[in-house]
Amino acid sequence: MNITEEIQELKKEKNAVILAHYYVNSEIQEIADYIGDSYYLSKAAVDLKEQTIVFCGVSFMGESAKILNPGKTVLMPDTTADCAMAHMADEETIRRMRNEYEDLAVVCYINSTAELKRHSDVCVTSANAVKIVKALPNQNIFFIPDRNLAHFVAEQVPEKHFVYNQGYCPVHEEIQVQEILKEKELHPQAKILTHPECPQAVREMSDYIGSTSGIIAYAGKSECMEFIICTETGVRSELEKQNPGKKFYFTATKPVCHDMKKVTLEKIRDVLKNGENEIQVTEELRAESVRPLQRMLELAR
Ligand code: 13P
Ligand code: SF4
Repeated sequence: MNITEEIQELKKEKNAVILAHYYVNSEIQEIADYIGDSYYLSKAAVDLKEQTIVFCGVSFMGESAKILNPGKTVLMPDTTADCAMAHMADEETIRRMRNEYEDLAVVCYINSTAELKRHSDVCVTSANAVKIVKALPNQNIFFIPDRNLAHFVAEQVPEKHFVYNQGYCPVHEEIQVQEILKEKELHPQAKILTHPECPQAVREMSDYIGSTSGIIAYAGKSECMEFIICTETGVRSELEKQNPGKKFYFTATKPVCHDMKKVTLEKIRDVLKNGENEIQVTEELRAESVRPLQRMLELAR
């Protein structure tokens, strides 16, 4: 039996399902039952019939799945796979902002710890942030942790006042204007598709800005045959699978999230076999952090 067959057998035996983000390695995406961006995966995690969820992604994703499904077992193939940005905000600043602005909504990117979520009013992902911020009754928005996504949303919702936090994704932050220009010189017909976690200068030169699913959908619908992709390289496999004949280029310094790449087939097999690396969230933390997640799911509907 090869490792893929072993995983399929174990999945049946343990009544388990595999969820994977587009940034994990392609061989993981191939065996996943659900692949998607953060918003899709948080929706998919609700109402699954299987008892065990193996979450192929970083810790805030598995943690969110557990918070939304307290009765389920959520296993992480590698517990050290974490998102640096998820920690780039703090409770003390949230408190200070709440004292400073009467009518404040703390809007928390889902790329954050449960501790940050519990102090927030609503969660968002890159796919639904604009819609949700527009729908909030509040005029003042403190957007944590990502400054780049915050600025992107603020540009789309100019009628609201934004307070910025200084978090960022180290992978998207490193995508360079000069490297994109080099690709554009080589492929002048290519459209530039960008994730909103990228810095403003990169967003400004882009033809489209959206979540990983948004980028994949745009490339599929476009009549253009070439694209410069400004996000993590894991999306390549889905882009190529859905669009045979179209060409996708990444910047020379490949944007790679090494934490997402920690997930391997062997680790998936092992956690299925041993039931190790189970996400644990105290009931107190879960009860408080589930509110902003549920509000996101309601407002984004
Ligand atoms: P999306 O899944 O919302 O596109 O966000 C990308 C990301 O950085 C996930 O960690
Ligand atoms: Fe976090 Fe960036 Fe990796 Fe996404 S790509 S998980 S935001 S470090």
